[in-house]
Amino acid sequence: MTDERTRSIDLSGLGDWKRSDYCGGLRAADNGREVTVMGWVNSRRDHGGLIFVDLRDRSGILQIVFDPDSSGAAFALAEALRSEFVVAIRGRIEKRSAETINPNLATGEIEVVCLEAKLLSQARPLPFAVDGNTEVTEQTRLKYRFLDLRRPEMQERLLFRHRLAKSVRDYLDGAGFVEIETPVLTRSTPEGARDYLVPSRVTPGHFYALPQSPQLFKQILMVAGFDRYFQIVRCFRDEDLRADRQPEFTQIDLEMSFVTPDDVMAVTEGMLTVACALRGIEVPQPIPRLTYDDAMRRFGIDRPDMRFGLELAEVSDVVRNCEFKVFREAVAKGGIVKVLRVPDGDRLSRKDLDNLPTLVAPYGAKGVAWVRVNADGWQSPIAKFLSDSERKGIESACGAGAGDLLMFLADSPKVVNDSLANLRLKIGDQLGMIPSDTYAFVWVTDFPLFDYSPEDKRYVAVHHPFTSPRDEDLERLESDPASIKALAYDVVLNGTELGGGSVRIHRPDVQSRVFQALGIGEAEARNKFGFLLDALSFGAPPHGGIAFGLDRLAMLLTGGTSIRDVIAFPKTQRATCLMTEAPSPVDPKQLRELGLKLSE
Ligand code: AMO
Ligand code: AMP
Repeated sequence: MTDERTRSIDLSGLGDWKRSDYCGGLRAADNGREVTVMGWVNSRRDHGGLIFVDLRDRSGILQIVFDPDSSGAAFALAEALRSEFVVAIRGRIEKRSAETINPNLATGEIEVVCLEAKLLSQARPLPFAVDGNTEVTEQTRLKYRFLDLRRPEMQERLLFRHRLAKSVRDYLDGAGFVEIETPVLTRSTPEGARDYLVPSRVTPGHFYALPQSPQLFKQILMVAGFDRYFQIVRCFRDEDLRADRQPEFTQIDLEMSFVTPDDVMAVTEGMLTVACALRGIEVPQPIPRLTYDDAMRRFGIDRPDMRFGLELAEVSDVVRNCEFKVFREAVAKGGIVKVLRVPDGDRLSRKDLDNLPTLVAPYGAKGVAWVRVNADGWQSPIAKFLSDSERKGIESACGAGAGDLLMFLADSPKVVNDSLANLRLKIGDQLGMIPSDTYAFVWVTDFPLFDYSPEDKRYVAVHHPFTSPRDEDLERLESDPASIKALAYDVVLNGTELGGGSVRIHRPDVQSRVFQALGIGEAEARNKFGFLLDALSFGAPPHGGIAFGLDRLAMLLTGGTSIRDVIAFPKTQRATCLMTEAPSPVDPKQLRELGLKLSE
């Protein structure tokens, strides 16, 4: 953008100019005032005798008029302006004539007649327009994030994120929570993902781990007597990325002493109420609760989207001895059969039904059987295999009536639940049953403490190893680990897990038994978590807490579908930053200092 005209205009410094106003706040009441405004050229229109520039800053857009009589030397500068040049304008506010008022602009009743102007900075031709109207790939947006962030949409999102974090901070401060920082260079805390490691130069061969969460530090702060802690804190997890997962993300993390799950949930509900009020969204008081078992039974998932119905029902007992081999054999092998009932099933065509197996294949399902319940009986490829009483049993299990379409899945509980939970979302979406302007919160409670991992051939923690079992389950910790329920709770919004927490183990003997049950022997526990066991042995209060994904909350409250849109500098699905090109190779000297050698 260095054509002849531009080159002939010198860049200026600010000199003694001071900004008097932001662009977006000026109104008709300011008529006649002389102002100094500064910002970016959003657009420029040359109307022969007059040049109009839309000047943009964080607050909005203001029209500047250059005319050869009033603007003097600034008129020549206006001729040279291009999109995204940075200028300072001194001028006089004038009301626009009735026919030139722009009702689409907050400042549309006025304009600024330029008296003097300074060109502060030029811009090269842009890879994409920042007006938000041009199609641009996310790759390009991320590479030129400084331009992308100029778009009003992105500015609004990040300003909202700021207000959200501030409202949470103010709320927690008001509720007696103390914000305390915890280390970023630390030891690994098992939250289920891989760690990011940082080599130590001073102790070669030793590594820090970046925290997956401040879990152990916040527990230790309770032992230290701070009673109520919070932190808006960056966490790091090297895991497979998705639209709602980033390798570094921000938690609203809190912990409280002398509490039960109800106490943590009440504080959470207050905090969410304040946060959601920023968008005029009401949070039910209390937020409805669902046990883990009910969530799995009715929705096949522990983070159900409660904005719509389409519930599941189990019919294993009804079809255990039926003639349809697929059902009978699945139950015989310890699997289950569940049904998804779709009211007004003729909204789905035969073609839709033929496509069902493709929808569930990614979850390991081998097929989907279906039934149309008509007034005069069942229409279905499998109808002939089911007796009258089996049909009645199925209808009563899922509340089926004429017009319904039933979809069946038979397999292991995991495959059935994963498949039907996802099918429910797809069908709900296809049939337009999921309202986009509804915010359905739900607590999921009474999680199992352990989950059996067939790969590792041992139990793993469903949340993390510091989660307390229910008191009444303690005696079965060794004899029947699968039956133990945790004092854990997740809060779910529209099918996204917003936050999760628990009451913790505060007795060293119980913590050791849970480590044992997880296959963490005494030596390993001592080596990895000795400091925690020590802390618990020096007078630990009963305590519990929760952590929220701030990015996820900001995304849902701004109506977004990716947390990348509420993070200033996010990473791609491959965990790279396209702007800085991190990660990058490092100097061999740096590696030598760290005592590291790369294998080919
Ligand atoms: P948890 O692992 O459930 O709990 O994390 C809490 C919340 O953090 C958010 N979250 C993420 N957001 C974006 N990208 C990610 N990769 C990511 N991973 C998690 C989610 C999630 O609900 N220490 C416990 C909390 C506790 O027990 O108090 C913990 O970290 O919204
Ligand atoms: P097949 O016996 O494989 O021809 O399947 C007969 C019908 O049962 C077809 O409609 C399949 O889609 C369906 N089906 C196959 N496997 C399953 C399963 N695991 N659960 C539910 N339906 C299935």
